[in-house]
Amino acid sequence: MRINGYYCSVFLFTFIAGSSAIEVYHEWHVSLDTKSSPLNVNQSVIAINEMFPGPLINVTTNDVVHVNVFNNLDEPLLFTWHGIQQRLNSWQDGVSGTNCPILPNHNWTYSFQTKDQIGTFFYYPSIRFQKAAGGFGPIRVNNRQVIAVPFDKPEAEFDLLIGDWSTEDYKISRLMLQNKDVDVESYAVPEFILTNGKGSYGNNLSKSFESFTVTQGKSYRFRITNVGNALSLNVRIQNHMMLLVETEGSYTNQIPLDSLDVHLGQSYSVIVTMNQTEADYYIVATPKLTTTNDSSNLVGIAVLHYSNSTIPVTGPLPTGPDPFDVQFSRNQAKSVRWNLTAGAARPNPQGSFNVSNVTLSQTFILLGSLQEIRGLPRFAVNNVSYYTVDTPLKLADYFVNGTGVYQLDAFPHDSVNANASYGISVVSGIHKGWTEFVLKNNMNVIDTWHLDGFGLFLVGFGDGDWTPASRDTYNIFDPVVRSTVQVYPGGWTAVYGFLDNPGMWNLRSQVLKQWYLGQELYIRVFDADPDPAKERPPPENILLCGMFDEAPAPAPAISPTSL
Ligand SMILES: *[C@@H]1O[C@H](CO)[C@@H](O)[C@H](O)[C@H]1NC(C)=O
Ligand SMILES: *[C@@H]1O[C@H](CO)[C@@H](O)[C@H](O)[C@H]1NC(C)=O
Ligand SMILES: *[C@@H]1O[C@H](CO)[C@@H](O)[C@H](O)[C@H]1NC(C)=O
Ligand SMILES: *[C@@H]1O[C@H](CO)[C@@H](O)[C@H](O)[C@H]1NC(C)=O
Ligand SMILES: *[C@@H]1O[C@H](CO)[C@@H](O)[C@H](O)[C@H]1NC(C)=O
Ligand SMILES: *[C@@H]1O[C@H](CO)[C@@H](O)[C@H](O)[C@H]1NC(C)=O
Ligand SMILES: *[C@@H]1O[C@H](CO)[C@@H](O)[C@H](O)[C@H]1NC(C)=O
Ligand SMILES: *[C@@H]1O[C@H](CO)[C@@H](O)[C@H](O)[C@H]1NC(C)=O
Ligand SMILES: *[C@@H]1O[C@H](CO)[C@@H](O)[C@H](O)[C@H]1NC(C)=O
Ligand SMILES: *[C@@H]1O[C@H](CO)[C@@H](O)[C@H](O)[C@H]1NC(C)=O
Ligand SMILES: *[C@@H]1O[C@H](CO)[C@@H](O)[C@H](O)[C@H]1NC(C)=O
Ligand SMILES: *[C@@H]1O[C@H](CO)[C@@H](O)[C@H](O)[C@H]1NC(C)=O
Repeated sequence: MRINGYYCSVFLFTFIAGSSAIEVYHEWHVSLDTKSSPLNVNQSVIAINEMFPGPLINVTTNDVVHVNVFNNLDEPLLFTWHGIQQRLNSWQDGVSGTNCPILPNHNWTYSFQTKDQIGTFFYYPSIRFQKAAGGFGPIRVNNRQVIAVPFDKPEAEFDLLIGDWSTEDYKISRLMLQNKDVDVESYAVPEFILTNGKGSYGNNLSKSFESFTVTQGKSYRFRITNVGNALSLNVRIQNHMMLLVETEGSYTNQIPLDSLDVHLGQSYSVIVTMNQTEADYYIVATPKLTTTNDSSNLVGIAVLHYSNSTIPVTGPLPTGPDPFDVQFSRNQAKSVRWNLTAGAARPNPQGSFNVSNVTLSQTFILLGSLQEIRGLPRFAVNNVSYYTVDTPLKLADYFVNGTGVYQLDAFPHDSVNANASYGISVVSGIHKGWTEFVLKNNMNVIDTWHLDGFGLFLVGFGDGDWTPASRDTYNIFDPVVRSTVQVYPGGWTAVYGFLDNPGMWNLRSQVLKQWYLGQELYIRVFDADPDPAKERPPPENILLCGMFDEAPAPAPAISPTSL
């Protein structure tokens, strides 16, 4: 199919060992583009095929997706597929520790399978603070026809990508964040909330606003993702209830909500029934822990337009919970439970694989914090700030067992270093072991963590310090499984992961400046079995760089051996 001069998607069928997999092809031309700027500001955004947000990836469980990325930026580029588990295939994960970047004026094709997954996800550029300039877009993984979905088929589906936005050029922001004289806590604070890459209704700085046309009496699925970089958001629709049904690949117990907190990097599906009078209604997103009013730029406003409506939106914006009421947010999060009886990617119920009776083989206690290292502001995990090396860890692992690039398990995984330092943090995750992660936050912002490669059973939230006795408060009956979890200021969040996916996996803060300045680490899950039906060998088109580059690598600013 040819759209706007680009070959967008082609669908082919291939047959692999008797089972059919659908191959889906995308060709993306990625460039800096001022035409896509959402506001009346001359700003370059990262657009894909001249679209911002980028094109929808709409696939079904077990499809194989090929994305041929042409990098027309003036610097290296990588995309990551947030929440897509890349089973046995961290080679496609698209973060600095797994892939060499795609150089300017080059193209490279990602190929990955949406193996055993359903749900709502998104993608974005993962390096060099580029996400602040856009480049994100929605991913839907639909159920196979043979599997019953636990709600009636909606009339239509809408992607609702909401997120904070700054008009500062991302190259300036990233430079400033590495300046010793900049207060990183108050720097790069967002100015706007965008909805699907558009400004707000009624805001004179916005070029346009998002509007969804619906038919009275019908129900619609909204796939909501917080694509932002700093702020948790509360979403609500004037006069309409939202029925929560899915989050990041799990069907939830269906609960009606007036408003929904969506933290950075999180995705939810809600069903909205259009049972009001023919009119237009507000869809708003407001930040948590921030004071706003109806005319603030930090209020995202879109419109729900009933098809026969002649009445524009009216009245004050729908009010939400007190943005400073952390207890509200925590209680709502605790009420999001796994529907144990619903089938998801497989016909058997989600609850047949559960944590009610597991033996933990590892615990990681991880504290995110702001530190100063060698005079520069850095974010750290257990006082170790991740230092990005030129050689992807996955390549170093595969070709030279890590030698000369990282030292396995040097990272303090259940304690905090006395002194903050740089480190190339790689920890061993026990293959097929149940692992507990306790994520702690001593900062005054809501932190959000994301783990690539796995679903995480969200067993608990707590205020204050975590102790082993905190385990008595865990929900091990029906915790929801997701990949992105918030950690409230001064609190902790506990999750369990089953490390059955060998590879090199990134665990990071989803707060962009915290991630960019070092709040991340890698988990190496190793399966000694060399059977390529287990962990996949490198792809044929593997890019080489760093110590494996043919050209001599430039000397790193800080040599790994002097860390
Ligand atoms: C917008 O900025 C770009 C450089 O960032 C410049 O080339 C272009 O001329 C500017 N356009 C306008 C209309 O000011
Ligand atoms: C997405 O894929 C599903 C399943 O193939 C299809 O029913 C639906 O129409 C597609 N939606 C879009 C927007 O392409
Ligand atoms: C680059 O694009 C060309 C043309 O589509 C394609 O044949 C080639 O395989 C791509 N290269 C990589 C490394 O993906
Ligand atoms: C934009 O709106 C604000 C109030 O919302 C007003 O103060 C300002 O003058 C307006 N600017 C323009 C250019 O209309
Ligand atoms: C909207 O208006 C059209 C034309 O007047 C009519 O056919 C249709 O039934 C109306 N739809 C609803 C939901 O009222
Ligand atoms: C619309 O549906 C909601 C539940 O989704 C219900 O609470 C409300 O009473 C309904 N309103 C009307 C006018 O039927
Ligand atoms: C709304 O907030 C803005 C700052 O975000 C402030 O300038 C303005 O005065 C406030 N308006 C009202 C009506 O409080
Ligand atoms: C759970 O899923 C089943 C479908 O298997 C559905 O019938 C039921 O209503 C769902 N339960 C809740 C509480 O949403
Ligand atoms: C959890 O899994 C066990 C098997 O490991 C099963 O016996 C139990 O019924 C499951 N629990 C639920 C709530 O489905
Ligand atoms: C739960 O674990 C205990 C001890 O490991 C074991 O004896 C028991 O059979 C398990 N129960 C289920 C339902 O798996
Ligand atoms: C690879 O390195 C690990 C420690 O980092 C070591 O335990 C292991 O024996 C090494 N394997 C080989 C094949 O050298
Ligand atoms: C972390 O590092 C900082 C700066 O070096 C130090 O002041 C602090 O005591 C360390 N934290 C802990 C818990 O040791």
